[in-house]
Amino acid sequence: MAFKALAAFLTLAAFQVANAALTRRVACPDGVNTATNAACCSLFALRDDLQQNLFDNGQCGEDVHESLRLTFHDAIGIGSNGGGGADGSIAIFEDIETAFHANAGIDEIINEQKPFLARHNITVGDFIQFAGALGVSNCPGAPRLPVFIGRPNAVAPAPDKTVPEPFDSVDTILARFADAGNFSTVEVVWLLISHTIAAADLVDPTIPGTPFDSTPETFDTQFFVETQLKGTLFPGTAGNQGEVESPLQGEIRLQSDFELARDSRTACEWQSFVNNQRKLTNRFQAVFTKMTVLGNDVNSLIDCSELIPEPPAFTGSATFPAGFSVNDVEQACEATPFPTLATDPGPVTSVAPVPPS
Ligand code: HEM
Ligand SMILES: *[C@@H]1O[C@H](CO)[C@@H](O)[C@H](O)[C@H]1NC(C)=O
Ligand SMILES: *[C@@H]1O[C@H](CO)[C@@H](O)[C@H](O)[C@H]1NC(C)=O
Repeated sequence: MAFKALAAFLTLAAFQVANAALTRRVACPDGVNTATNAACCSLFALRDDLQQNLFDNGQCGEDVHESLRLTFHDAIGIGSNGGGGADGSIAIFEDIETAFHANAGIDEIINEQKPFLARHNITVGDFIQFAGALGVSNCPGAPRLPVFIGRPNAVAPAPDKTVPEPFDSVDTILARFADAGNFSTVEVVWLLISHTIAAADLVDPTIPGTPFDSTPETFDTQFFVETQLKGTLFPGTAGNQGEVESPLQGEIRLQSDFELARDSRTACEWQSFVNNQRKLTNRFQAVFTKMTVLGNDVNSLIDCSELIPEPPAFTGSATFPAGFSVNDVEQACEATPFPTLATDPGPVTSVAPVPPS
């Protein structure tokens, strides 16, 4: 009896030790939260501030879209011509980098983020990447994106021409991503998953907030359906800003997305995302993990990914917009037919713009 009790006690003690090792957390100075690393503690207050006051209580609106775009424009500032990657240079050297053509309009989110940066103790590069990862968690269907902190502040601006333009050729785009971070051809497609929660203000300044797909506030696969619908370059491409007409009223398509959807090197990977939500979330998480630390040694950073909430699920299916069918698809992947999709019921509608926030 006594031996049995002792054995049971030892088993329980061993279990508790093992359990504590798995879940050991430090109490944060705020008296409320715990974290796996004390350095993550300061992010809780920043997270709440951003969610309430930048992202309008957890929306997936314009400020989230712009914050994600900013993670990219900061991180991609690296390569054989110099630049420190994800180092905050785009905001620290705002006067220089926002004057680059490809960064048009990015000053808006830099300036909206500034008061948050001033209120919290965090480097600029960490802040930009954290805000983007957090914002995306508000979008139904999104993956949980990782958060790392410890990036030093940039000491120099990135050079011009690191950010791809929508009128760049597929050759130029693939070469730029390879130069910036050894991104492979499929990884370039994975990065463009971001355009499922996106709109353009300046590609055609007469129609600000025009989305790239019909569901810009959902991290779904609809972008990969709608970029594949037939269409043509706007006539007189000289002087155009890289825009292709969309058969959907109220939608805009980037020439670069249009071409990546049709190029023999990228078309099958592009099509593979149609109605494949699992692959979409998995690949975007993987490629964002690579992008978010460009220019930094990941082993010297601290993983604070636990700060990111589980995004709401997306349980719907991809569809053809009302009035469209597989006959409207410009099939580009030779190896695999386009997936079978239902068509939305009802009359043909126009896609609403993303409201400014
Ligand atoms: C070939 C590469 C890319 C090109 C040419 C490109 C180009 C563009 C352009 C022209 C816009 C519209 C800007 C405006 O007029 O307001 C845009 C928006 C956006 N881009 Fe990209 N992009 C690329 C890759 C990426 C990547 C890798 C990400 C993130 C990982 C990203 C995230 C976004 C987001 C979220 C928006 C929407 C911003 C908003 O709605 O305000 N883009 N992109
Ligand atoms: C700000 O953060 C750094 C790095 O985590 C830390 O060393 C420093 O003590 C913090 N400063 C304040 C005022 O909390
Ligand atoms: C680039 O990526 C490939 C895999 O796509 C890998 O085999 C290679 O080692 C990488 N090169 C560098 C310099 O990191």
